[in-house]
Amino acid sequence: MQCEEKFAEIYGRDPEGMSFSPYRICPIGAHSDHNLGKITGLAIDKGIHIAFRPKQNGVIEMVSLQFPKRAQWHIREVTEKAGDWADYLRGATWALSKLYPLSVGLCGVIEGSLPIGGLSSSAAVILAFLDALCKVNRIRLAPMELIQVAYDAEKNYVGVNVGTLDQSCEVLSQKDHLLYLDCKDNRFELIPQSPNMKPYKIAIFFSGLEHSLAGSKYNMRVDELRSGVYALQAFSGAEYGKFNQANARDVPFSVYQAYKDKLPVQWMRRCEHWYTEFQRVEAGAEAWRRGDLETYGKLSFESGWSSIHNWESGAPEQIRLYEIMRETDGIYGGRFSGAGFKGCCMALIDPDKADSIRESVERAYLTSYPEMKGRYSFHLCVSADGIANQ
Ligand code: GLA
Repeated sequence: MQCEEKFAEIYGRDPEGMSFSPYRICPIGAHSDHNLGKITGLAIDKGIHIAFRPKQNGVIEMVSLQFPKRAQWHIREVTEKAGDWADYLRGATWALSKLYPLSVGLCGVIEGSLPIGGLSSSAAVILAFLDALCKVNRIRLAPMELIQVAYDAEKNYVGVNVGTLDQSCEVLSQKDHLLYLDCKDNRFELIPQSPNMKPYKIAIFFSGLEHSLAGSKYNMRVDELRSGVYALQAFSGAEYGKFNQANARDVPFSVYQAYKDKLPVQWMRRCEHWYTEFQRVEAGAEAWRRGDLETYGKLSFESGWSSIHNWESGAPEQIRLYEIMRETDGIYGGRFSGAGFKGCCMALIDPDKADSIRESVERAYLTSYPEMKGRYSFHLCVSADGIANQ
């Protein structure tokens, strides 16, 4: 691996350990998690590798093959965010050290196997780094604990109001199974691929726009949804507490239907997305259970539509990719992958048609956005085990 070679080049010896976290896709269940909804997702066979060696003096020194500048801090002195790519890792150090005393640092080189944006590389880099930090400090985290520490790092240190979708998919997934998770109580099911389900592969279409959630409208959309939910509670005369504790899961769909017309249109649309996505997730899980890939895929397309029109996310390039996907033969379904602020689209496709899908999507996309030549890319993936099942 390139990260091992780079490690040897920088430090003059081989790494002592390797850690890995897969990326994830979420075909149905976008923007459900932060308001305690349900999601469906899978880990894929691409992700983030870290080649590392312990440092007994407690220093952490990280290099990324994707970003410039080496980052350095001490395990016991994680201070303010520096505003760079390594904040996710500083956050991981901060979150883990609240629970376990750390004494050993590490030096490491990070390698991501795909471009950044939509596959949750932020959760994956945090998880792979936590794995390395735990190994050198001889700490063993249970899967749910690992998810919570990674979530704490991203939400409370980096400051993005994420839910636990990404971390859960990357930790709990199992190859050829669909993770069906209730973010309210973390109960989950790994629904196996039924023997009568048609074969599929996962196609990733990178728009050519890379991104990070930290600079997107992610938090604003979550606030808009929460504002809608808070207002619904007031309209219906329900008891309510602090604004930041309000969440859509505690407000029944019937209350939304009764009072939605009183909401400002933007808040209504965010709520419309959340409540309809909840229904799509439940219907999607049942379709997967029956082996009905067509219905599952159709619901993923509908989820994509709602992300564009109700959640109002998606750069024009991504929306174009989504439209092309809908017109392409052999694609069961798909949507923006992840939050939908730049990055990629994912699709579940017929493996026999992978070549023609690759050609026709690329042709149509580059006709619309010729400037993306050389930046746009296609990747064919399969489902994979999460960290807890590797
Ligand atoms: C990002 C966040 C997740 C989730 C998705 C959208 O990936 O990290 O918590 O909200 O966006 O579904």
